[in-house]
Amino acid sequence: MIEQPRVELSKVAVSETHGENSPYFAGWKAYDENPYDELTNSSGVIQMGLAENQVSFDLLEKYLEEHPEASTWGKSGAPGFRENALFQDYHGLKSFRSAMASFMEQIRGGRAKFDPDRVVLTAGATAANELLTFILANPGDALLVPTPYYPGFDRDLRWRTGVNIVPIHCESSNNFQITPQALEAAYDEAEAKNMKVRGVLITNPSNPLGATVQRSILEYLLDFVTEKNIHLVSDEIYSGSVFSSSEFVSVAEILEAREYKEAERVHIVYSLSKDLGLPGFRVGTIYSYNDNVVTTARRMSSFTLISSQTQHLLACMLSDKKFTENYIGTNRERLRKRYQMIIEGLRSVGIECLKGNAGLFCWMNLSPLLEKPNREGELELWNAFLHEVKLNISPGSSCRCSEPGWFRVCFANMSENTLEVALERIRNFMERINKE
Ligand SMILES: Cc1ncc(COP(=O)(O)O)c(C=O)c1O
Repeated sequence: MIEQPRVELSKVAVSETHGENSPYFAGWKAYDENPYDELTNSSGVIQMGLAENQVSFDLLEKYLEEHPEASTWGKSGAPGFRENALFQDYHGLKSFRSAMASFMEQIRGGRAKFDPDRVVLTAGATAANELLTFILANPGDALLVPTPYYPGFDRDLRWRTGVNIVPIHCESSNNFQITPQALEAAYDEAEAKNMKVRGVLITNPSNPLGATVQRSILEYLLDFVTEKNIHLVSDEIYSGSVFSSSEFVSVAEILEAREYKEAERVHIVYSLSKDLGLPGFRVGTIYSYNDNVVTTARRMSSFTLISSQTQHLLACMLSDKKFTENYIGTNRERLRKRYQMIIEGLRSVGIECLKGNAGLFCWMNLSPLLEKPNREGELELWNAFLHEVKLNISPGSSCRCSEPGWFRVCFANMSENTLEVALERIRNFMERINKE
């Protein structure tokens, strides 16, 4: 073993704002130590805390089989190996930016336009969110984020940037939608703490709620950020996973309707991690309507570029309209079916979920099961799920939810058989509890 001398590290390195001390990540560890496998470990932990999309892999694999030119070198029609190996321009391949822009339009049913020259490429939405935070805010400033929110934001928006998250507390009484009162209260709280508010960051559709943000709320948010002269970031990473395209309104559509008035304060984050199920490829974008943000983000993207090989493959895939049309439709339908399966399974044992219309998870209400109606009670229940029921689900407190008893349950990172096993385990647990 190498002896570890007590040599000092930077403030960032030793800071606690990395966000990993959370049950969200602890649950992943418990899964890694004893992962469920239908054949070899049928009593293992089922991972329902990972928002991964595996339901449409067959479509991607079929495309790759039929289009070897996208992923192999030296075939006719493919660009040269050397040309690609040397490519490192931080603008990215023009063909890929164009394909990405038109894919983003397609997901929105053609109701919004995207200019390839405003597409900045980053290594996933993680990098995009951090990079935007670096550009919009100084250390000590605040971003207002509606709760419950994606636990990774505690790391991505805060750790290296030194920026604070001030929660906009949303409640179950109105399906966790943002209200003007909650927004004003968060703004006032930041000011009372002497933090300069730089912007509001929303996810639409929301992670962990699995629901889209209403048009009227987007309109209100745009008016709010204009009045306060701050930014609006919309993380639309799940926009292609809305079960029906017509139920999703992107901030891009509202800007178009407003003839791009005040658009320079709006920035959209997107990635292929969820809709295409490719988190390992690390492909994200910042789409900003602000020229200075685009230029700065492009320069900064030097730290988190996407490999030219990946860009080439996805440029081929996403510019094949026949493929993308079929993929988007089939993927939406499969996710909707999965959602229905889990919601109905849970309802049959007396568990209700928030009404969702998007995403790879549902937001489950277990508050009637809490022995103590607080965070401690929630974590006790989470612990029982992890170690007795052998399911890793994410407690609402790890998403900064202000009401105890809500959990995010992912359903697209497993087979239908495994989902059946998970539902069976919940059924047995509920029967036992009811008896007790
Ligand atoms: C809302 C949200 N933003 C960003 C990310 C990070 O995505 P990526 O894998 O593209 O970095 C996630 C992943 O779960 C997410 O849910």
